[in-house]
Amino acid sequence: MTARQHAAAARSASASIGVRPVPGLLDAEFRLFQSLVEREAGIQLADTKRALLASRLNQRLRELEMPSFSAYYRRVIDDPNEAIVMLDRLTTNETSFFREPSQFAFLETRVFPRWREDASKGRRPRRIRAWSAGCSTGEEPVSMAMSLLSHFPRSEGFEIEILASDLSTRVLRQARSATFSLDKAVQIPGHHLHRFMRRGIGRQAGRMRASSEVRATLRFERLNLARDLDPRLGIFDLVLCRNVLIYFEPTHKRGALQRLLRVLDPEGLLLLGHSEALQGREQPLRSVGPSVFAWKKLLDD
Ligand SMILES: C[S@@+](CC[C@H](N)C(=O)[O-])C[C@H]1O[C@@H](n2cnc3c(N)ncnc32)[C@H](O)[C@@H]1O
Repeated sequence: MTARQHAAAARSASASIGVRPVPGLLDAEFRLFQSLVEREAGIQLADTKRALLASRLNQRLRELEMPSFSAYYRRVIDDPNEAIVMLDRLTTNETSFFREPSQFAFLETRVFPRWREDASKGRRPRRIRAWSAGCSTGEEPVSMAMSLLSHFPRSEGFEIEILASDLSTRVLRQARSATFSLDKAVQIPGHHLHRFMRRGIGRQAGRMRASSEVRATLRFERLNLARDLDPRLGIFDLVLCRNVLIYFEPTHKRGALQRLLRVLDPEGLLLLGHSEALQGREQPLRSVGPSVFAWKKLLDD
């Protein structure tokens, strides 16, 4: 019997008695994965995440018929594609439409009317660029597209561009499709839902898809915030990095924030998740709204 046949026989024997052949995760193995994930993605896996890591990677070990976590670790080190798969399995992708509604309310009542007026007086361009950094399955950039399209009409010459990026190729695939379960419709304000979402029919029943007007504003890219960014990304009026950096190790978090600030327009706004704060008085930003930050120097002018 070959090794592969042996493994298959063992699998089917254990399946027949309802036991899955799952290798245990040793302390030393957990430490290896902890530092690997931090190095690769900036994400800090606390010691309390050990069971979570084991359960999320177990399935992958079974798929690859790996005898141990050490063997899987070696595979990840040797194969950059497997590192991508591993990170796909380990990221937390919870999201929703119009998450942190107070931020959308702030933008729509305090910021967008001013930008629109400034544009009408020629004081700012008619192009608005936003970046959803850590966009997960796409609800965040689609929400932002709906909000921006409503406030900056194409008929007045406005142009909306939204970069939606994530580390995980799995969520990006989903985000690119711009289709969502109909269950999520309740998260979208009625006027946006009617204008910007199309209900699926036939094989797409139970799903909805963002309209072509919304999709035309979106561009998707895999970007790792723990790595230097391509300088060709350009400059953004809005940078959303919400509920991403909370998972980062502090040094990586500072590095990622610096990268985000490098592409933030002097009059632009950075939006973080509601539980996320900027540390230190030396911060170049100050809070102007609910977890919304602007450059200090402009406000002090
Ligand atoms: C909890 S979701 C937040 C989604 C959305 N921003 C929101 O607030 O609803 C965090 C996202 O950050 C992504 N992420 C984690 N580490 C990252 C990294 N190093 N670079 C880019 N994205 C990352 C994850 O894949 C995940 O989709």
